[in-house]
Amino acid sequence: ADVVLLRSRLLHWYHREKRELPWRTLAVTESDLNIRTYAVWVSEIMLQQTQVATVIDYYNKWMKRWPTVQDLAAATLEEVNQMWAGLGYYSRGKRLHEGAQKVVSELKGQMPHTVDSLLKQLPGVGRYTAAAVGSIALGQVTGAVDGNVIRVLCRLRAIGADSTSPAVTEALWSQANILVDPEGPGDFNQAMMELGARVCTPKGPLCSQCPVQSHCHSFRKVHVKQEKTSRKL
Ligand code: ADE
Repeated sequence: ADVVLLRSRLLHWYHREKRELPWRTLAVTESDLNIRTYAVWVSEIMLQQTQVATVIDYYNKWMKRWPTVQDLAAATLEEVNQMWAGLGYYSRGKRLHEGAQKVVSELKGQMPHTVDSLLKQLPGVGRYTAAAVGSIALGQVTGAVDGNVIRVLCRLRAIGADSTSPAVTEALWSQANILVDPEGPGDFNQAMMELGARVCTPKGPLCSQCPVQSHCHSFRKVHVKQEKTSRKL
């Protein structure tokens, strides 16, 4: 019941507060799974090492020039690198191009449609990116743990241990998989990212504005500590 309430609070907040990012609008309106998967793949690769605000223009230009995976496969690497200019980490663009050519030449132009096949088939797609694309574009029920989500989960569950250790990484993924909303995994995962970016920030988190404050073990700890202190005074 607690998890159900947490989901509903987080999702209500997300629908009220979310930024209308082009790949979010498209994920809702675009019914063609192949295009949706391609579009969210492009957005997630761009977002890997670049901020949302910078990615928006690049993403829009990219999708205008290469609206389908076939269009991207037909481009040259030079064109891809030109389009990528300014985004940094150029190997990301090269991986997208390689992936598109593989989809066209080996997969009959069909983007992989499961988390496992995204992970196996697409170069540059790791565990997080496969989970993000699978949940956002395809509605696959999986958590997606990126840097923002690590911070949110560590606070929510008061995990103080080193979040880069393999054991803690596994614990965070299982928490994410328990929490994810099976009815709308893409929205849920993006809500977690949005919470990390906007409210549960690295320094000075805005706990008073947090939709899941009452579920947060870290908040409770700090709060109780303060109450005890004030009682003593
Ligand atoms: N960072 C990575 N993926 C994102 C997404 N879909 N929305 C916002 N920030 C993100």
